Amino acid sequence: MKGIILAGGSGTRMYPITKSISKQLLPVYDKPMIYYPLSTLMLAGIKDILIITNPEFITFFEKLLGDGSHLGISIKYEKQTEPKGIAEAFLIGEHFIGDSEVCLILGDNVFYGEGFTQMLQECTKIKNGAKIFGYYVQNPTSFGVVEFDEHENVISIEEKPEKPKSNYVVPGLYFYDTQVTKIAKKLTYSQRGELEITDINKEYMMRGDLKVELLGRGFAWLDTGTSEGLHEASSFVQTIQKRQGLYISCIEEIAYRMNYICQNQLHELAKGLKNTDYGEYLINLSNERKL
Ligand code: TTP
Repeated sequence: MKGIILAGGSGTRMYPITKSISKQLLPVYDKPMIYYPLSTLMLAGIKDILIITNPEFITFFEKLLGDGSHLGISIKYEKQTEPKGIAEAFLIGEHFIGDSEVCLILGDNVFYGEGFTQMLQECTKIKNGAKIFGYYVQNPTSFGVVEFDEHENVISIEEKPEKPKSNYVVPGLYFYDTQVTKIAKKLTYSQRGELEITDINKEYMMRGDLKVELLGRGFAWLDTGTSEGLHEASSFVQTIQKRQGLYISCIEEIAYRMNYICQNQLHELAKGLKNTDYGEYLINLSNERKL
């Protein structure tokens, strides 16, 4: 399976901060936002990754992550000239996807919770249909709301409904079979001028091929799209890291634990970051016996 991180967008809800910088390069506590969705893909076992972003920001992402070889993965880059919708990822990524299954994650989505890695790895086994996630929130009206039957088959998805049919909303993480590009090509622009990911999901739903996986109580799906949300996400990461001494979405650690790189490679990466707690954490890890 291949992975796409969609990290373009306009970031208007964070103006003036995001007038001159990509939202996905802003820090969520001690690391750039893009590390979080990248970690999700890496934990899923996906090593072939495409980052899509605005033309003016590509060089910044390349400087940060290069071709991914230092993490034992491959990272490629494509541009999205205008934010014409999340589903455009499959058109921009058509060549990259080829005839693979694909996982799409939005560049501003942060996930954290026990059992997530195993859940992700199960999702990568998808051969037919699509899988989305459902996250319980108190006020679903500003999200895509999903309704499902007892077998977790999706029976309706509604964007920002006034009267939501459930409290479960759809986060920016999606798994698709090889049909997704073909479906994306048939989409038309919505009233707001975007190719909607919801329309792709509805097509799978109409085929009876859309499943939802529920993210349980205690699971964190954090919003980083506004200054307040970003601040709260940063506090969350700081609190967990300080309390447990274990890092959230540390891509070098994940590369090591997933056996994408060896202990010596981890040590080399750590040396380059030695002036920070982050680097020290990696140095300690590279000196420990692997558990
Ligand atoms: P949004 O939150 O819908 O929008 P945005 O990031 O452009 O911000 P704002 O609402 O403040 O103007 O985007 C969710 C994620 O998807 C975010 O990481 C940006 C990304 N995205 C794209 O890369 N291209 C797109 O065309 C769209 C709509 C979103």
